[in-house]
Amino acid sequence: MANLSANPMTFTVTLQPSGRSFQVGPDETVLQAAIREGVGLPYGCRDGACGSCKSRLLEGRVSHRAHQPKALSIEEEQAGLTLTCCATPQTDLAIEARAVVGAGDFPPRKMPGRVTSIERPAPDVAILRLQLPANEVFRYRAGQYVEFILADGSRRSYSMANAPHTQTDVPGIELHIRHLPGGRFTDHVFGAMKARDILRLEGPFGSFFLREESAKPIVLLASGTGFAPIKAIVEQLEFAASERGVLLYWGCRSRIDLYLHDWAEQAAARMPRLRYVPVLSEPRPEDGWAGRTGLVHQAVMADLPDLSGHQVYACGVPIMVESARHDLVAQCGLPVDEFYADAFTSEADKH
Ligand SMILES: Cc1cc2nc3c(=O)[nH]c(=O)nc-3n(C[C@H](O)[C@H](O)[C@H](O)COP(=O)(O)OP(=O)(O)OC[C@H]3O[C@@H](n4cnc5c(N)ncnc54)[C@H](O)[C@@H]3O)c2cc1C
Ligand code: FES
Repeated sequence: MANLSANPMTFTVTLQPSGRSFQVGPDETVLQAAIREGVGLPYGCRDGACGSCKSRLLEGRVSHRAHQPKALSIEEEQAGLTLTCCATPQTDLAIEARAVVGAGDFPPRKMPGRVTSIERPAPDVAILRLQLPANEVFRYRAGQYVEFILADGSRRSYSMANAPHTQTDVPGIELHIRHLPGGRFTDHVFGAMKARDILRLEGPFGSFFLREESAKPIVLLASGTGFAPIKAIVEQLEFAASERGVLLYWGCRSRIDLYLHDWAEQAAARMPRLRYVPVLSEPRPEDGWAGRTGLVHQAVMADLPDLSGHQVYACGVPIMVESARHDLVAQCGLPVDEFYADAFTSEADKH
């Protein structure tokens, strides 16, 4: 842990209502310091795109680095809100923020990962398996993600699709990667990448993970490769022999995009408390689809008009996550604090 107390450019951040405080170094963001100090704050992209880290600044001044207006608008900033991932303190601060219990338990670390396999279960989806250094088990929570560090230092985030206990003798992770044509990292994954390649990564990150202390029934909501962390959460629930009711909704365009449909059906067959509901938005005639159609979060709303006693875990494209957050809270009475999400933002969302 860095000793920052002697540096005059170091500021103290105090969180309310917990009263927990920590030091933020020169040029550090509030979130960087919180992660370094093992303080659990809510966050997703770490890059000013998703809005998950939005908090209220109660006292003091910050400067915000570039971020998306949809993550924090000028009006919100003027009303005293801040993005902790983009905010550098200019004075000591008091910030109102929900404490994320357990978020700081497994500090992120940098490590190499060796590609053990690349599968293509759908034309635009790769399942990448990486072997991690054998000297230390990789500890994380089901739902969290790692960042690949590219040659120029830029980073790309991917959620673990396997629960931590599935790492046996050799530590390793499974990632589900959707090809975004023209994208720097995924063009490489779908082009030159091959088994035995070495990648640099850091993790775990993120406050999107299963809250195991709750007994509430769960709605899991995935779009596309947002299924990855949802799969890890299902594995974790099964491993923990959870008694909680679980409804798993997976939305994709057509049948071919449900790239682990059989896996989900088998999980539902094994787990008496799990029900799986696939939803297609644009089924093709050759799909012969007799299942649910439309937008995945609307299927949840049709089945569960009262979500006041549930937890919802949503993951995938930003539009799905934003619509679900808004509509499930406004129309189904879901408490806003019981909506947990990771929006898969990319460079396209930052320009
Ligand atoms: C917390 C988190 C978890 C994630 N987990 C997953 C996961 O499990 N699986 C998954 O598939 N994805 C995940 N993502 C998304 C992932 O991190 C990448 O954003 C995505 O894979 C694209 O990476 P890329 O380098 O190929 O594309 P990028 O280089 O980011 O480009 C993305 C798209 O934008 C276009 N683009 C690039 N630059 C610009 C620009 N300047 N202006 C406009 N358009 C531009 C590109 O042509 C491309 O189509 C996650 C994201 C976050 C934040
Ligand atoms: S906007 Fe701060 S974590 Fe995404």
